[in-house]
Amino acid sequence: MNHLKAKGIFFLLLTLYCAILQSCGGVPEETSSNETSDKVFAVADILTLVAEENDITRTLYTKGIVGAGKKQGLKFDEDWQDDEVEAGPLPALFLRGISSDIRKSDVPLGLYLGSDFPINASNKFQGKQAELFAKIKADQKPQHFYEEDQKLYTSMFADLAVAAPCVNCHNDHKSTTKTDWKLGDVMGATTWQYPSDSLSYKEAIGVINAYRNGTKAIYNAYLEEIAAFKIDSTKPQIGNKWPSKGFYLPTAEVFIDSVRKLASYHSLEKLLLADTKKTTKTKDLVSR
Ligand code: HEC
Repeated sequence: MNHLKAKGIFFLLLTLYCAILQSCGGVPEETSSNETSDKVFAVADILTLVAEENDITRTLYTKGIVGAGKKQGLKFDEDWQDDEVEAGPLPALFLRGISSDIRKSDVPLGLYLGSDFPINASNKFQGKQAELFAKIKADQKPQHFYEEDQKLYTSMFADLAVAAPCVNCHNDHKSTTKTDWKLGDVMGATTWQYPSDSLSYKEAIGVINAYRNGTKAIYNAYLEEIAAFKIDSTKPQIGNKWPSKGFYLPTAEVFIDSVRKLASYHSLEKLLLADTKKTTKTKDLVSR
């Protein structure tokens, strides 16, 4: 009897141990099924999280740097990287800079900004994305789907005219295909792509970091461009002040820090929420 009881306890402990291992997946010899249970995040949730961080970054750059900077005499241009042009990147090109830096990393995250009435014809949505963008325009709700052709999980989010410079610049642009944009309009959408339907903690953190590193890279490229400006009086003072206070620009650290302050609490909440789900899953396993 005692022997049976001991055997029972042994199996109970073994089951518990396996359940915990399965949910944490932290052992070196993990099997593929352990890896699967380690994928605690749905791809749409992580793409939503990084898209929210992108909204914050984009608004901060558009209002805090481009909008306020222009009033101080800073210039922003499509050809900002040309040697003869002493200007910074437009918001769309800032985003493209982030996107191309992510592409250089080993994180398989894709980011694209498109529209149905683009300034640049190569930003016009095609195929399924064009179809779904029509829905986004109507209800401003994100679209999550599997892009069959590219074999990528895809999420699209409305890109809104959040600040006056968005509307003014697009309406007045020489290559614009629409001249009556209004504040609050859905001007386009950001398309985010990832090759698998779920992510582990490590992969989720990888996505967020790839995005933040991209922001840092393009912002630093802008500061390097300024350093090469030929006329000293066109160079703003770079430190911890923003253009709203005068002829200043924040350093990359100050800029990223502001994004972090605005985004991190929300991002952390989301990560913790997934952790709660994971704990529930462990309980479910144990009670079976
Ligand atoms: C000073 C000018 C300027 C400002 C400010 C500006 N844009 Fe643009 N935007 C452009 C240009 C130029 C392009 C095309 C860049 C390229 O070559 O891809 C563009 C591209 C875009 C695209 C991709 C489709 C297209 O038109 O090619 C979207 C969507 C967009 N901008 C939305 C916005 C939003 C939203 C804001 C404000 C948060 C904004 N823009 C601010 C000039 C501007």
